[in-house]
Amino acid sequence: MNDKNLSGEVYYPGKEIIDNATINDWDALNKKANEDYLGFWEDKAKELHWFSKWEKVLDDSQKPFFKWFTGAKTNISYNCLDIHVKTYRRNKLALVWEGEKGESETMSYYRLHQETCRFANILKSMGVVKGDRVTIYMGRIPEIVIAMLACARIGAIHSVVYGGFSVESLHERIEDSQSKVLIVADGAYQRGKIVPLKDIADEALQRAGGIEHVIVVRRTGQPVNMEFGRDMWYHELKHLPIATNDCALEIMDSEDPLFILYTSGTTGKPKAILHTHGGYQVGVYTSLKYVFDIKEEDRYWCAADPGWITGHSYIVYGPLLNGATSFMYEGAPNFPYPNRYWQMIEKYGINILYTSPTAIRGLMRFGDAWVNRHNLSSLRLLGSVGEPINPEAWKWYYKTVGKEKCPIMDTWWQTETGMFMITPMPCVPLKPGSGTKPFPGLQFDILNEAGESVKSDEEGYLVIKNPWPSMIRTLWGDSEKYVQQYWSKYPGYYLTGDSARRDKDGYYWIIGRVDDVIKVSGYRLGTAEIESALVSHRSVAEAAAIGLPHEIKGNAIYCYVILKSGQTPSNELMEELRLHVGHEVGPIAKPEQIKFVDSLPKTRSGKIMRRVLKAQELGLDPGNLSTLEE
Ligand code: WTA
Repeated sequence: MNDKNLSGEVYYPGKEIIDNATINDWDALNKKANEDYLGFWEDKAKELHWFSKWEKVLDDSQKPFFKWFTGAKTNISYNCLDIHVKTYRRNKLALVWEGEKGESETMSYYRLHQETCRFANILKSMGVVKGDRVTIYMGRIPEIVIAMLACARIGAIHSVVYGGFSVESLHERIEDSQSKVLIVADGAYQRGKIVPLKDIADEALQRAGGIEHVIVVRRTGQPVNMEFGRDMWYHELKHLPIATNDCALEIMDSEDPLFILYTSGTTGKPKAILHTHGGYQVGVYTSLKYVFDIKEEDRYWCAADPGWITGHSYIVYGPLLNGATSFMYEGAPNFPYPNRYWQMIEKYGINILYTSPTAIRGLMRFGDAWVNRHNLSSLRLLGSVGEPINPEAWKWYYKTVGKEKCPIMDTWWQTETGMFMITPMPCVPLKPGSGTKPFPGLQFDILNEAGESVKSDEEGYLVIKNPWPSMIRTLWGDSEKYVQQYWSKYPGYYLTGDSARRDKDGYYWIIGRVDDVIKVSGYRLGTAEIESALVSHRSVAEAAAIGLPHEIKGNAIYCYVILKSGQTPSNELMEELRLHVGHEVGPIAKPEQIKFVDSLPKTRSGKIMRRVLKAQELGLDPGNLSTLEE
């Protein structure tokens, strides 16, 4: 794709970037992957360790329940840790961490392996066995990485709940996953304040049954309630004789579950996306290797949160599979000052920064001086994820942060895809706002309602036509919904839920979600979660939530509420409802605005027509209204 005949505004990588890139001929790689797709993935799989080899690379006999590397035995934690401990990487830093207050910690592969074994032994002593679910609810601290790896090691299925979620979201996820153990931090630092994670968890546990043990990691040190017989401090457990430095790992089948991660989909409650040990590790390992082209000496920083897929794949598993040094920062980008990120890039010599358009836009607004005060010459590559990046933010990132020498990897992917799907590589010419082309070998299309490919530059539904190793296997406990949500609109094709355009150079431009998902600051929320939180308030009869464009956050949540009779609208009530949503779902879900209304546009069958509300707010044509109830 090093083609100089591209149209529109194009940014070509410098010679030095191309000369140093592992992949410097994208077209050749793409051709190879297309000619022998399974052979391509098989070759990549061979770079990882397997206790025994696969019988088949892909088993598609039960579509859309695809299986990869069937018959093989593996464990992702072996490929993340044990394999490196046997080499020169034993003393290499696996994790470099900085807390919001500026304290820091580093962990070699040797130490991370040891800490993981100790944690795994603690879990084992609590009776956690292969297949059990463990919920993890923490901020961005090293223990979250250790806890995830410990689960993987013993074959337990981790379910990480983002620390920015609150009582009801946590309750729902604990209950749905039927977790036995909860791993929680006492609190998390967020802009100088403490988020009382343990208190939130206590409230969630009053609503949910099933949790036998709670492991509490001390981070903030404020007093917390410890329920006798249920709650135990990690720092105490860690020093018990059972927490030895060695823990035999569970030999996993390639298709055995690794984790579930809840995310919002078309309708209803969040569903658990299931990923497995074998295929997931191959997809995540390969995509990170090619796209961020991590060198042995690099310090790579993915500024996402481990509670979302970006953190799972590209803070934890991807970097460790590649034997890389992964940097993690606990706090917010602009706390205490807007130079926080730039300061750390300089301090740690970060080579690759992968963050979100929201963070970029948020930092851009403080001006260039905050950036220019720091030496960012270590940066080689930049990345963006989570939502479309507007060209203005792209150019600022490119010029002011990357000094016009760092290509931006705008990676489009999803919780369901596990890995980057539409993405450049360092050698690829870039167009600001486009993720360029599908990862080699992947077949995408853009379809109209009738299922026909749309013409160049026309908008349509983005679909994927062939399976890939790190793809979602099913929705945990709801295979029917898996088929219905992803594979039924266009049978045989995976429906992404996004709309997109493809230009005449074959570059993809993501427009946004076409379902009931709202991307707020890159965080994925469902209208149903927000609406049911509103309706759980004693004064609310009915509610509707929509996303409207927001300069920094990409989208902001707007709600419409019908009050129960006898309740009167007021600003106080509006504020109370906003706080209520924050308390139930999480601060990220707090509506920007709530309007009190007497009725909501509905179909004759009673479904709220959110697109009508949205069109009304934006002054657009609401489209076909034939199903609207009078
Ligand atoms: C959106 C996050 C434009 C998209 C990894 C997708 C993006 C949803 C991009 C998945 C990007 C993600 N450009 N849009 N580079 N990356 N999206 O599951 O709407 O939290 O469907 O995964 O984020 O969100 P999820």
